Amino acid sequence: MTKPHNQTAWRPHDLLRDQSWVFSLSENARKQLAYSIKKVFDPDRPLFDYSREDFDLGPGLATVVAAAEQAYFGYGLTLVRGLPRKEMTEQEYRLMIWALGLNLGVPRPQGRASQYISEVRATGMNYRSAGGRGYNSNAGLDFHCDGCDLVALACYNKAKRGGQSLISSSVSAWQALLVEYPELAETARHDFYFSRNQEEAPDEAPYYAQPLFDFEDGRLFSKWNRNRVRTAQDILGVPKLSVMQKQCGDVLDLILRRPDLMYTMWLQPGDLQFINNHVILHSRTTFDDYDELNRKRLLFRLWIAPPYSVQLPNSWEKFFNSTDPGTVRGGIRGHNHDFVCKDFELRQAESMGMPAPVHNRFSA
Ligand SMILES: [Fe+2]
Repeated sequence: MTKPHNQTAWRPHDLLRDQSWVFSLSENARKQLAYSIKKVFDPDRPLFDYSREDFDLGPGLATVVAAAEQAYFGYGLTLVRGLPRKEMTEQEYRLMIWALGLNLGVPRPQGRASQYISEVRATGMNYRSAGGRGYNSNAGLDFHCDGCDLVALACYNKAKRGGQSLISSSVSAWQALLVEYPELAETARHDFYFSRNQEEAPDEAPYYAQPLFDFEDGRLFSKWNRNRVRTAQDILGVPKLSVMQKQCGDVLDLILRRPDLMYTMWLQPGDLQFINNHVILHSRTTFDDYDELNRKRLLFRLWIAPPYSVQLPNSWEKFFNSTDPGTVRGGIRGHNHDFVCKDFELRQAESMGMPAPVHNRFSA
């Protein structure tokens, strides 16, 4: 892997011309991966009980590890095609994503239930409600970033119709905003208030503030989620959005969807997508499911704190809990982040050569 290079300000034609962000697994790698998972899979064994050493993932592992790191330092986006799918049950596939994740960093909790792997499927959740989350709805989503450094999304089933993945470089969006709307760019450099959508841990406030764009070590970092800015407006103590802030959000959303900035892609069963949330904003179109339960759209999502993460701006501290490079940071601890979770994170951090997580320094 070459060291950090700035490919972050891409446009769709860059991704079409240069396919270096697309990886694929050989038949042999696919077979070994499937075999190693089936060999160890135990439906009664919790994910936390597995460790990296339990799996002999074969040559596919190096490809996935390289793809994750390239997503972090390259375009902010990579795709691995050809994960074993046909021969895997849902639960085996889930374990495979977990096993791969244990080699990429420290998985982060992702919501109210403090889950470390999310099943992205429509369960009737109202995305627009005060506690709504997109991953359990079939709604088209606002452009947003997920709450971690690196997100891995593995497709098991695609929808009957829709569910297209929409991706924009937030660095390119920032450049457009700065050139075309300098006053709004200035607004975006100051605090916006985001709701935690009722997922806050006991020691967290129901909202937090940070700018939409900030810089550190010459890198640009972005943060945007219209839905959470909107729901924050109903929380006591959150200042009302100014006219400039409203305009800023509206213009940013229009920029992100411009055809010369937005890249559209379909995730196929067996595809694994990596996104660096600091330089990419993403979305998804609404979808219709098949009637049969076993054909409904299903993706498995991991949030990862990788050992090679870079220094974050100070303004990212509130949400990420740590801005130091290579630390266990980000995620949504939620309501059930107990000693079992903390013990797992500590063990996994040690295994990856990363410092103990901040919340583990004082209490186990
Ligand atoms: Fe997302």
